[in-house]
Amino acid sequence: MGEGLRTLLFEGDRLRLIDQTKLPTELRYVMVDDEQTAFSAIRSMQVRGAPAIGMTAAYGLYLGLKKHVDLDKEAFFGELKRQAEFLKGARPTAVNLAWAIERLVRVAHEQRAQGVRAVLNALREEAKAIQHEDERACRTMGENLQAFIKDGMGILTHCNTGALAASQYGTALAGFYVAHERGLKIHVYADETRPFLQGARLTAWELQQAGIDVTLICDNMAASVMASRKIQAVMVGADRIAANGDTANKIGTYQVAILAKYFQIPFYIVAPWSTIDPKTTSGREIPIEERPAKEVTEWGGVQIAPRDVPVYNPAFDVTPHELITAIVTEKGIYLPPYHFA
Ligand code: MRU
Repeated sequence: MGEGLRTLLFEGDRLRLIDQTKLPTELRYVMVDDEQTAFSAIRSMQVRGAPAIGMTAAYGLYLGLKKHVDLDKEAFFGELKRQAEFLKGARPTAVNLAWAIERLVRVAHEQRAQGVRAVLNALREEAKAIQHEDERACRTMGENLQAFIKDGMGILTHCNTGALAASQYGTALAGFYVAHERGLKIHVYADETRPFLQGARLTAWELQQAGIDVTLICDNMAASVMASRKIQAVMVGADRIAANGDTANKIGTYQVAILAKYFQIPFYIVAPWSTIDPKTTSGREIPIEERPAKEVTEWGGVQIAPRDVPVYNPAFDVTPHELITAIVTEKGIYLPPYHFA
């Protein structure tokens, strides 16, 4: 679905999202019409992936504030502050969410003198601009990643970094779509990505729809697949990249990076510039979201672990910069040593 289905569709002042919790068995949509519905779509992971949650929060902020068009300026800006903080709290790790909200807040303050209606117009246009920029950035990342994709390659990926996670194409998967368009034959190995199964449910589905060769493996098979020389590169996305290159991504990415080092397989991060957080100096400062125990102890409402067993469920881990061969963005390819400050 490089160019096909749209994860986010903003039309007629409403935001329609593909409900990713229902894939791959059902293609259903969820509507966002204010900050509350945006928050719950992000928190429940109906929409997920760093760029997609940033865009959803931006539209959610605009739509939420639109309901307060009749407030006086002082009260409207109070509401802006409240909703911005509320939306930022939906998920803490992917910096794209706070980045998008802060962009809208800045624009609102720039337009303050023009009055509430002008501020609302500016917020809507800024949210749309973020989406258009993301579309272009994804395509460019895909093109930039061709420097590392060769015909016949086996590529391991983790989680979902495709069109579902962004506006179009995605990040690492953008590279696979571009390679496919150019007639290269690649074979993708998708980690299932426990516990939320973004690899099994979303990446396998997206790539299959696009006609790209994909084989689904369980997370604990990565070493064995690498040992059998089926993988020539690992390509994954990111939720936050610190100034020194340390990278937070879906839980399990770190162990894949360690394996890649052991097997001397290059390990690439592909992410838009908005995922780089120069204010965070190293991975130690990146807040890691912990998700509910039920995501581990149940699947599809079926209990798969003893009731009340203690669970630790961090949604992300941090891959230290020394394990990363290159960071590919829309602005170009960055090689170690990384300095994003
Ligand atoms: O918890 P998720 O599904 O939102 O986590 C998503 C990831 O970790 C992705 O790899 C990352 O956001 C990059 S998406 C282009």
